[in-house]
Amino acid sequence: MTNSLLQKMNRRLEYIKPSAIRAFDEKVSKVSGMLKLTLGEPDFDTPEHVKAAGMKAIENNLTHYAPSNGTADLKKAAAEFMNRHYHLNYTPEETIITVGATESLFTVFASIINEGDEILVPTPTFPLYFSDIEVCGGKPVYLDTSENNFILTPEKLDEAFKAHPKAKAIVLNYPSNPTGVTYSREQVQAIADNLKQRDVFVISDEIYAQITFDQPHTSIAEFIPEQTILVSGVSKSHAMTGWRIGTLQAPLAIIRELSKVHQFTVTAAATMNMAAAEEAFTKGFDDGAKMREEYQKRRDYLEKALTDLGFSYAKPTGAFYLFMKIPEDMEQDSFKFCYDLADKVKLAVIAGASFGPGGEGYVRLSYAASMADLHEAVNRLLQYKKMISK
Ligand SMILES: Cc1ncc(COP(=O)(O)O)c(C=O)c1O
Repeated sequence: MTNSLLQKMNRRLEYIKPSAIRAFDEKVSKVSGMLKLTLGEPDFDTPEHVKAAGMKAIENNLTHYAPSNGTADLKKAAAEFMNRHYHLNYTPEETIITVGATESLFTVFASIINEGDEILVPTPTFPLYFSDIEVCGGKPVYLDTSENNFILTPEKLDEAFKAHPKAKAIVLNYPSNPTGVTYSREQVQAIADNLKQRDVFVISDEIYAQITFDQPHTSIAEFIPEQTILVSGVSKSHAMTGWRIGTLQAPLAIIRELSKVHQFTVTAAATMNMAAAEEAFTKGFDDGAKMREEYQKRRDYLEKALTDLGFSYAKPTGAFYLFMKIPEDMEQDSFKFCYDLADKVKLAVIAGASFGPGGEGYVRLSYAASMADLHEAVNRLLQYKKMISK
């Protein structure tokens, strides 16, 4: 392609930097014996009954286009699953089945952003939001929550809206990738009370809702459904990342607008995968609970082992991540730290700086890994600590 054509591309793509996480992952994956706690997906396989439903769907020739917003049965199943678990009142018509939460998010940003619109994004967080907002012509406004244990407070919201009175939306993500922190019912209620007074969309990415340890998940959609656009799906709850099935729920008038972008972008999610997701939502109501038990054992182990080693971290209450503070006597640049850790003891974790303001000085450990791998990771951290303090 000629240079002149390259210069004619969408200028917004200039804001999108090649993923530093991917570059790191590619580099460390080539090293034999590297132990990776970098995974952003369940290490479990999709439950057998769900896989069987997908295979049966293919045998039954469910291989044609489905209605754009999803099959009627799946929309109903998704709405019932969300309503029962999280005390919500969505109808099937208020539900769009998407190609993973990733598509849900793009559909939302493309549907609400006009050039230059400010979108508040509490950080550190899932970096996809930054890229989506930029590509859609918006401006992410970062709200660093690191000083408050990675929890957004009404005070922080007041401050943010004072500085950015025209902000059009806020993106929430809890349980959080990368911090593993989630919100108590009281904290969700306090944020909802604050946002209720404002004319803003609340884009709530609750994809990890099934993975909370010390308390049940509370959706902000329970308190402010009129302004919430709820993003979820089966990727994490049912270990179905590869099936690419997500959900998008909002009041009907908003859904009608969102469905325009969804339709023109993907037509519909894959029909046979929707059959599998329907099985997950209807017959796998408690599939998430079994995985949660496993994650909890690993979290408890890691917490204790890291504390014994003298490391500190944000209290992990959900998802399968632990956000560990890099000790002060070690390299504070999180990328340099990660490369050094990988180099010296063959342990790969993700640099906190990848997740926006407030992430520097931390690393993300994913415990979507076997207990044996976690034991070994702790050994390697101990080894590293000994090397550094020599
Ligand atoms: C916070 C968050 N939202 C959304 C996604 C994407 O989910 P999906 O695989 O359903 O597109 C991820 C994946 O890691 C995530 O961590």
